[in-house]
Amino acid sequence: MVTIRETLTAATERLRESGSESARLDAEVLLAWVVGVDRATVVAYPEAPIGSDQAARFASALDRRAAGEPVAYIRELKEFHGLAFGVDRRALIPRPETEAIVDAAIGEVMHRLAERPGEAGAGPGRGGDPVRVADVGTGSGAIAVALAVALRSRRVTMGRNVTILATDASADALDLARENAVGHGAADGMRFVEADLLPVVLPDNGAPFDLILANLPYVRTDAIEGLPIAASFEPRAALDGGPDGLDVIRALLERLPTALGQGGAALLEIGADQGEATPAAVAAALPGWRATVEPDLAGLPRVLRVERGDEVAGG
Ligand SMILES: C[S@@+](CC[C@H](N)C(=O)[O-])C[C@H]1O[C@@H](n2cnc3c(N)ncnc32)[C@H](O)[C@@H]1O
Repeated sequence: MVTIRETLTAATERLRESGSESARLDAEVLLAWVVGVDRATVVAYPEAPIGSDQAARFASALDRRAAGEPVAYIRELKEFHGLAFGVDRRALIPRPETEAIVDAAIGEVMHRLAERPGEAGAGPGRGGDPVRVADVGTGSGAIAVALAVALRSRRVTMGRNVTILATDASADALDLARENAVGHGAADGMRFVEADLLPVVLPDNGAPFDLILANLPYVRTDAIEGLPIAASFEPRAALDGGPDGLDVIRALLERLPTALGQGGAALLEIGADQGEATPAAVAAALPGWRATVEPDLAGLPRVLRVERGDEVAGG
């Protein structure tokens, strides 16, 4: 029987030769997954033996990783905003930088609920309507589900206080999103709709949204080939944003005048090199509206916030 140490040494060497920049980490994570323990345990017990069944499963996982497949697809699991999401080739693997949208959205929703006097959801002129949120291009459901779970932990009643519409052009991605919502017990107050951005007729008799969230494809078509090989396992429609990367974002901007209610805001993830191009796209598509770019923890442009200019000017 081989030991964990021997297995990891050989696997790390193989992954390094295959071009992985995180060979040791990948090997540890995959071995821990195969053995059914956490990574710290694998590291702590290098002399422990590995059974032949486990060795065979690890060899198969290693083959896939050496061919470039992301570790998350092999494990069918990715942590996002402190939650474990099921992931597979039906949808993009959620990225850590997208957590910025979730954090901003939590603040927006809680602020809107707090502005309503009395019990949450009974605000002036709203007749107790819930805060209406859309997650456009939901993919694995990462943003919508993480938001719903975070709101629930803040005693928000989904459905009554907040509703979330999650859309995607891919029926496969929506299936995965539904699975993740159910898996986290977060499907209450959430709807999943296959649509090009948003349904032509908005649900609830066309009522506009208070908050529109989106991490849409924003990679330039000619930059796709230069992405790490792992990205070639992800759906191209989740990445390709057209010649300048902004085709899908521009299409969503066109929908905002009817889809976003008075006092509403759209929060869109953008590429780190799109901090100037995206406000320019807003100025072209939505004259008089306000666009601000918020940086992520690394100080890079990450979230584009779009609001109607008249409301911002009026406070
Ligand atoms: C970059 S992925 C993001 C997925 C998920 N929101 C996340 O952050 O992990 C973009 C998603 O938008 C979807 N998408 C692309 N174009 C779309 C469109 N016109 N209408 C609706 N969804 C679209 C893709 O299918 C994909 O799931």
